Formats: sequence, structure tokens, C-alpha cells
Amino acid sequence: MAAYEYETHDYDVVVVGAGGAGLRATLGMAEQGLRTACVTKVFPTRSHTVAAQGGIAASLSNMGPDHWQWHMYDTVKGSDWLGDTDAMEYLAREAPKAVYELEHYGVPFSRTEEGKIYQRPFGGHTTEFGEGPPVQRTCAAADRTGHAILHTLYGQSLKQKAEFYIEYFAIDLLMSDDGACTGVVCWKLDDGTIHVFNAKMVVLATGGYGRAYFSATSAHTCTGDGGGMVARAGLPLQDMEFVQFHPTGIYGSGCLITEGARGEGGYLTNSEGERFMERYAPNYKDLAPRDYVSRSMTMEIREGRGVGPNGDHIHLNLSHLPKEALQLRLPGISESARIFAGVDVTKEPIPVLPTVHYNMGGIPTNYWGEVLNPTEKDPNAIVPGLMAVGEAGCASVHGANRLGSNSLIDLVVFGRAAAIRAGDVVDREASVPATNTAQVDKALDRFDTLRHANGTVPTAELRDEMQRTMQEDAAVFRTSKTLAEGVKKMEGIAGKMDDLKVTDRSLVWNSDLMETLELTNLMPNALATIAGAEARKESRGAHAHEDHPDRDDKAWRVHTIARVDGAKTELSYRPIVEAPLTSEKEGGISLKKIAPKERTF
Ligand code: FUM
Repeated sequence: MAAYEYETHDYDVVVVGAGGAGLRATLGMAEQGLRTACVTKVFPTRSHTVAAQGGIAASLSNMGPDHWQWHMYDTVKGSDWLGDTDAMEYLAREAPKAVYELEHYGVPFSRTEEGKIYQRPFGGHTTEFGEGPPVQRTCAAADRTGHAILHTLYGQSLKQKAEFYIEYFAIDLLMSDDGACTGVVCWKLDDGTIHVFNAKMVVLATGGYGRAYFSATSAHTCTGDGGGMVARAGLPLQDMEFVQFHPTGIYGSGCLITEGARGEGGYLTNSEGERFMERYAPNYKDLAPRDYVSRSMTMEIREGRGVGPNGDHIHLNLSHLPKEALQLRLPGISESARIFAGVDVTKEPIPVLPTVHYNMGGIPTNYWGEVLNPTEKDPNAIVPGLMAVGEAGCASVHGANRLGSNSLIDLVVFGRAAAIRAGDVVDREASVPATNTAQVDKALDRFDTLRHANGTVPTAELRDEMQRTMQEDAAVFRTSKTLAEGVKKMEGIAGKMDDLKVTDRSLVWNSDLMETLELTNLMPNALATIAGAEARKESRGAHAHEDHPDRDDKAWRVHTIARVDGAKTELSYRPIVEAPLTSEKEGGISLKKIAPKERTF
């Protein structure tokens, strides 16, 4: 057994991760007087939410008529009818409240002439239940909305005396014999010490796992750490086959160019200078949802109408927009285009390509953020003491495809919901669970084994193999052949985890070891993704299966539940939640309005 000394810390709540969801949960918990710690592997304002550009969706009606039911309808349709109806209603209803709270906390939103929060159009957001024109629903702070939100929430959390443990890497969850979560074991990166956090509630807000792919808009820190810990605890992941490709990653670097660029009037063209989205989505054109636009771009390239010497990308045009508008509304992407593509957006188009951006799947939860461990008897069974929010979780509001700007609102609505729920279920008078020493030893044994790994495959090499396989075999379009090959390849790659080589044995700022721990988290996420995709014999949202091009609601309107053990993934399915929170009589949406139908734009 590995001999490491450790320090213990007792809290009512420990939040792991300090992005938008983690900070909103931390703030909400601390505001209610719960003793709250936030443990994060990067400085809070460097969390990946900082890179969120275009904005946050809420039906404020600042720029024209809007309604929460229209937002809900768009989310249901955007999800290709795979989202959970109760969660989608909760999101759309609570969104305005959550945004006004952000405003009052101090988020410096852009303003209209009258001083209201500025809102821009984004893909898939419409009026009149998809029958009317696009709506301006996305509240923006120029094109640095995530940055503004993150700084505000961090300041407010400090004000509420939440305690931050910064640059602490979460190794594993502590699970009791009866299946409850009682804490988390962490490694402090800057001095090598080990810390055990015991808590009545652990909230995973660890973000997505975009770095399972070779080219992603996600930061290098987006390694699915929550999903990895959950998988090792024997708990499942949900709907992992649905991976969003953002239409406009900069060709080459993958750096994000916000959908807000098209919201402000930008458009895509092919090598013939044609605005091809007019053919694919005659009504909403460049403002169709992301899965639609990414597929259309890929088809243009495949059919020989890509731009550039190799015909392998597409142009995003902004040069027709007034210079002042670019400076005011899109300063960040103007700079990114210059730095990463060498392009002056006032004169030239930006070369772009669909790039991995978001994981619709994640740790299954209800709309309060409580983690589920579905069984045949109880598909909604709750794991006591454990919550998951933000991209790490799957509530599921995005189903098979997320609408742009529904991510930031997901972070704050469900971070806030988790805090409200914890306020009800965490017993302030109860004692904090005692340190589960057997579980701590198990986590530290794993840590020590990786620290001394002396095989033949360097971590970076295996990670590269995984990323390239996922990029090739679980792409925008998938076939039975590529998916079957991909599953096989990925199982082989995961099999090499026992042969890893770590060269740095130290404990202080050991990035070799940290990246190895991250790889152990990326791997189960990647395996669940490709296995779920291989099994799903239909096309829905971001899962475009060329051998099964139609959506099959009879067989496949179900959530995929994936349990990953080593290199093997076991799949089962769980029904989606069809019932909304409120009936039409009580002011809820009409069931007829949200019944599944063909998804056209
Ligand atoms: O395009 C963007 O600004 C990204 C927004 C989002 O993913 O919600």
C-alpha cells in the first residue's frame, strides 16, 4: 500500500471545478450559509468558461417579442427530441431569473440604447414555436460573455466566504459501501501534498472532455475529470455519443469563432462564393442549429466545394459588416482571427472548419443536479451525496444537440438549482462523514501506481493515438464500418493504459503525472462515446449515421447509459422524461406543440 500522509478538510459541500457551473453552485451554497469549499485544478478565472464568447440564452424580450415557451420549444427541437422535458422546461422558465441575478451580481452585459441587456440572434432560436423569424435571445457581453460571468461569480463567491482550494487535482471520489459519495481525494499541484475532503455533498462541475479529440475548441484542461471519477466509482455516463462540432473553429488551430459572428450578420461561403446554407436551411440559413450547419459544411467540402489549396475548409465572411459593429460586438474574434489565421476580418474571410466543441452527454442527473444511477427497477435512482452540473452533467437539456448560448444558461440555471436543492437536502446539524480510509488508500494506490508507471508507452503518445482515432472514427458523419473499427481501436488503445511510462516521479508541479491522471479520465469518456455511437442505429442531432440516416423514435428515443470498466463498455438504455413540470392548464406548454416531428429549418 502506498504511504502518503494527508490533510483532511470537512465541509458541508465540496464543489469540484470553478467554471460557470461550479462557481454558480459555490456561490449559491455559500449564500445559504452552507460551509462550502471549491476545489479546482486551474485558477477559477482560467476555467474554460472564460472562453465562452457569444452569450447566454434567456427570453428577456429586450429586442422584440419572446416567451419562455418559445425558448423551451426551440430547445426541445434543437435536442432532436432526446432531451428530458422537465429539465428543458426548468431551463427555459428559470433562464430570465438567472440572467437578471447575474446582472445584479455585476456582470457587465452589453447594452441597448435604452440601457437594457443587449441580445443577439443565435442558431436555432426562433419565435412562434419555430414558425416565426429568428429571435434575439442571446444576452451578450460583447464576445467575451463567459469571461465576464466567470470574473463576477468568482468575486461574489469570495464575498460570501466560500473557500477556494486552487490548483488541487481531484484524484478520486470517496464512495461508501452503500453507494453514497462522502468526499474526494486531491493532490495539491504546487507543493505535492495530498488532501482529503470529506463532505455531505460533492458537486462535480469539471466540464467536458473535448480533449478526447484531436481538434477541439476546448481548453487542454477539458479532460472529463468528473466523468472519469464517476466511471471508476462504478457509476454510468449518459448519451456520450452526442458530440457537438461547432461550425466555426479556425481552420488549423481549432480556436473558436463565435456563432455570434453569424448572429451579427456574418455568413458562410464555399469555393464558388455561394451562400450554401440557403440550400440546406432555406428559412434560417446560417442561423440553423450547429449540427445542421456542420453537416452542411462537411457536405460542401466532400462534394468538392471547399476553399483553400486543398479544398478542405469553408469561408466565414464578416467584411461586409460595419467596422464599428465589429469593434463593438466582436472585438475578441477579430483579434483571434488575426492571431490564429492571419486574417483582417474587415477585409478577408476567416477560414473555418467544424471543430469539436461540446459534449451533450455526461454524468446523468435530474434537473436538480442529483446524480442518477439508473437500474431497471428505478431509472431515476439517486446517488446520495453526489451532484453534477454544467458540461460534466447530463440533465438532460441538450439531448442530441445543444443550441448555441444554451450552455452558459445551463451552467447558471443548474448551478443555481444544485444550490437550491442542497439547501433542502444537506442537514446542517449532521456531522460530516468520517474519512473513509479504505477508499483513500485505494485512490492513493492508483495515484502511486501511475506516478511510478514504468511501461513502454509515453502518456503523450497514447493520448495522441486516442485523439486521432476519435477524430477519425467518431466524426461529424459516422458509418457502421468506421464506428466498429473505432470501437476495436479504442479498446486496443485503452488496453495500453497498463503499459504507460511516466518519467517524472516528483510530486511538485509534475505535469507528466497530471496529464497521465487526465488521460485516465479522458479514456472512459472516449470509450463510452464511441461504444454508444456504434450501438445507436439511427441519426439524431449530432449523431449522423450514414447507414441509418433517419431518426427512429420508436426504437431510439432513449438515453444511452454506459458503464465503462477498463477497456470494456456495457450499454443499457433509460427512457427519456416526457412529462413537463407543469401542465398546460397550469400555464405550461401544450404537449401537442412539443410532440416529435420532422426537424427542418
Ligand atoms: O459560438 C459561441 O459563442 C459559443 C457559444 C456556445 O457554445 O454556447
